[in-house]
Amino acid sequence: MRQHVNPLSKNFDEIERIPPFIEMFNDSKLNLHLDIGCASGDYLFELALENTNWNYIGIEIRERLVKKAKLKVQDKKIKNLYFAFGNAYNILNNFNNKFILKNVKSISFNFPDPWFKKRHYKRRLIQPEFINILSKLMQKGSLIFIKTDVKDLFENMDCTILGNINFQKIDDRYFNNLESFNPNKVQTNREKYAVSNELSIFKRIYIKI
Ligand SMILES: C[S@@+](CC[C@H](N)C(=O)[O-])C[C@H]1O[C@@H](n2cnc3c(N)ncnc32)[C@H](O)[C@@H]1O
Repeated sequence: MRQHVNPLSKNFDEIERIPPFIEMFNDSKLNLHLDIGCASGDYLFELALENTNWNYIGIEIRERLVKKAKLKVQDKKIKNLYFAFGNAYNILNNFNNKFILKNVKSISFNFPDPWFKKRHYKRRLIQPEFINILSKLMQKGSLIFIKTDVKDLFENMDCTILGNINFQKIDDRYFNNLESFNPNKVQTNREKYAVSNELSIFKRIYIKI
């Protein structure tokens, strides 16, 4: 069992400088996918190699994992992938970083920490304030993907996202017609664990309208 990081700790009030896309990527004009709570980034490494026509950013609150992922990007000379360390809410809500959400085409929240105790619900990633920020900055037609093996968390996230009038759920058939690339093609590490332990997986896609 890993120690969970409290995202509301003052340690995360200060955020690292996020460079402009032109410094992050070889081709800064490509479509952008953002993965929030990316852990070691294995999922993004696989996506970045499989679909080189997109750029990818991963945000993770465990610094050690981000340092290792950044080194791996350098070692492998990958030009369409960037990792940022910190609380995703603080990074994306920062005035200087609004360009990320303004340009993102899709965002994934894969198996976010469930924080089972009621008094810890405020530590969960998907909160009305956060979804409100996404809804204000994301372009129309951009997508949010959520996935979890915790039914109660799924219902909470679904209710929170649909509680914002700017997001609508879409079904997989509609999504397949969008000609967008499908980040669900690749399994995350938690997903591999859930599949091998025959846990139910709850997932949904939303579009900004
Ligand atoms: C259960 S793990 C899932 C990791 C990965 N997405 C997967 O599916 O295998 C949740 C991850 O989210 C990260 N995390 C939790 N709260 C966060 C926050 N506020 N900002 C950024 N990352 C966060 C945790 O450190 C952890 O790595």
